[in-house]
Amino acid sequence: MLLELKDVHVHYGKIEALKGVSLQVDEGEIVSLIGGNGAGKTTTLKTISGLRSCSSGSVFFDGADIGSMPGHKRVLAGIGQAPEGRGIFPGMSVHENLLMGAYARKDDHSKELAEAYELFPRLAERRSQAAGTMSGGEQQMLAIGRALLSKPKVLLLDEPSMGLAPMLVQQIFSIIEEINRRGTTVLLVEQNAQQALRLADRAYVLETGRIVRSAPASELLDDPQVRAAYLGGDVGDAAPAGAAAAEAEAGTVALGKGEAAETKPEAGGAGPEAGKADGE
Ligand SMILES: Nc1ncnc2c1ncn2[C@@H]1O[C@H](COP(=O)(O)OP(=O)(O)O)[C@@H](O)[C@H]1O
Ligand SMILES: [Mg+2]
Repeated sequence: MLLELKDVHVHYGKIEALKGVSLQVDEGEIVSLIGGNGAGKTTTLKTISGLRSCSSGSVFFDGADIGSMPGHKRVLAGIGQAPEGRGIFPGMSVHENLLMGAYARKDDHSKELAEAYELFPRLAERRSQAAGTMSGGEQQMLAIGRALLSKPKVLLLDEPSMGLAPMLVQQIFSIIEEINRRGTTVLLVEQNAQQALRLADRAYVLETGRIVRSAPASELLDDPQVRAAYLGGDVGDAAPAGAAAAEAEAGTVALGKGEAAETKPEAGGAGPEAGKADGE
């Protein structure tokens, strides 16, 4: 077991955002955490990376209780995060942003730097460009690349597909799969449930601060209730953002572990993020 949350409760003032979340991530897995807006996905990741503390419950990483460990030590321990909204430094160059990912390390990071540029050739082309002038997709690549510079054992990704054009979503998800194939464990938070479930080994469904389902990802993809709530079967607030458009344009995608997924035209309408997609 690489990462484990046990009965974690987190409050913002009097609001209880996490009401007893328990989850586990094994070494080498891609685990996906899906759920609608406000379910507590970001809070869960922040609790793991140390940006929020638990009111009660515990977080174990790599055999140790890290509940009281400060965030920068968690980075050194092997918890890397590409935060929601990307969190890049707009005035700094692409290269400088990448190096920020290694700020806590004392050892040589040249291997991870080369790897980030290899995984994201676009970043190599634009290494001197101010990060704030890059497109949404490029900034997302930069956020993931920067997280890799900390040489994480587990990579926490918060809605990496948010606001991206369909082709770019495919690209980002393929790269996440490649990062995992090279040995990094991944905890992937997504509202784009269809894509996330195809990529993941296992998944948890979070609803208003509680885990309501936990199963192999393929099982959740076939589950009528999950399909209705998160895969566009019944379009509501929780409809996957842009999933239908991604499906339609991409045609057949091969993202699942070894399985080719077919186009599913019945997926629901474009979500609220569709209009924000950057046109690449
Ligand atoms: N800084 C904050 N102050 C107060 N409430 C917050 C704050 N951040 C999140 N919340 C609340 O916590 C709940 C979970 O939020 P969040 O973890 O961001 O959900 P998700 O990432 O699944 O959309 C929501 O009800 C949200 O309004
Ligand atoms: Mg969020």
